[in-house]
Amino acid sequence: MRRFILGLTLLLSTSIALASGGGVELQKAHNDITDKASLQAGAQLFVNYCMGCHSTKYSRYQRVATDLGLSNEEMMKNLMFTTNKIGETMTIAMDADDGERWFGVTPPDLSTIARARGTDWLYTYLLSFYLDPSRPMGVNNLVFKDVGMPHVLWDRQGWQKVVHETVTDSHGKTHEVIKLELVDKADEAKADNYRQDVRNLVNFLDYVGEPAKLIRYDLGWKVLLFLAIFFVFAYFLKKEYWRDVH
Ligand code: HEC
Repeated sequence: MRRFILGLTLLLSTSIALASGGGVELQKAHNDITDKASLQAGAQLFVNYCMGCHSTKYSRYQRVATDLGLSNEEMMKNLMFTTNKIGETMTIAMDADDGERWFGVTPPDLSTIARARGTDWLYTYLLSFYLDPSRPMGVNNLVFKDVGMPHVLWDRQGWQKVVHETVTDSHGKTHEVIKLELVDKADEAKADNYRQDVRNLVNFLDYVGEPAKLIRYDLGWKVLLFLAIFFVFAYFLKKEYWRDVH
């Protein structure tokens, strides 16, 4: 029993540590899965920048096209590079062993990553790659220590470096904080666009994690509308019945 409790405590504490992203404050993704334009932009980024290594093998191109409001032709022309069959799932050609040989770890399937990590974590992760010459890929990540993934979106963000700053709080105590800064100040012009790119990508992964959410959101307001109209009828009906009683 004691061992069980100890195990449970350990499990809980590691998941809390994971969820907190190693002490780094997570930034809010503020994504909106009902925004079709954002989902389309996210899907476009995903197939271009991520599908070389990651699959979302529980999604079918056909279903994604329908949910995102794209025709089969648009889907096939712009978003399908590994197959020409619209009924296929979004798998990739890279084999798991090769992935492990190249990156030290196989790039995971991202079908449920938004549910596993949360959208804020994903958003912060994609904003938090920084140069670290000691790592095989030349980069590290603030919320994923010693990550095996390269900074694939560097051309859209630029490179970041870590800066250590000492801040004094209201009690006069000093703390060291770690911040990321763009190496080339000229890349700051791209910062807003990059945030939007990352938000779109996270939005797409959020949708992929639970496609039924879109239907549920769509159904939700219809049910509420029905209830609102039904209420008016019920109210007048009640008035009608009670008139005879009084
Ligand atoms: C060149 C190959 C490659 C590409 C391209 C790539 N990744 Fe990765 N990714 C990896 C590897 C390898 C890992 C595993 C890292 C580890 O466990 O250290 C990973 C891990 C991740 C994780 C963390 C998974 C976890 O375990 O929590 C996320 C999220 C992720 N990638 C998202 C993306 C997104 C989004 C893109 C496209 C913008 C992308 N990746 C493109 C190789 C890649």
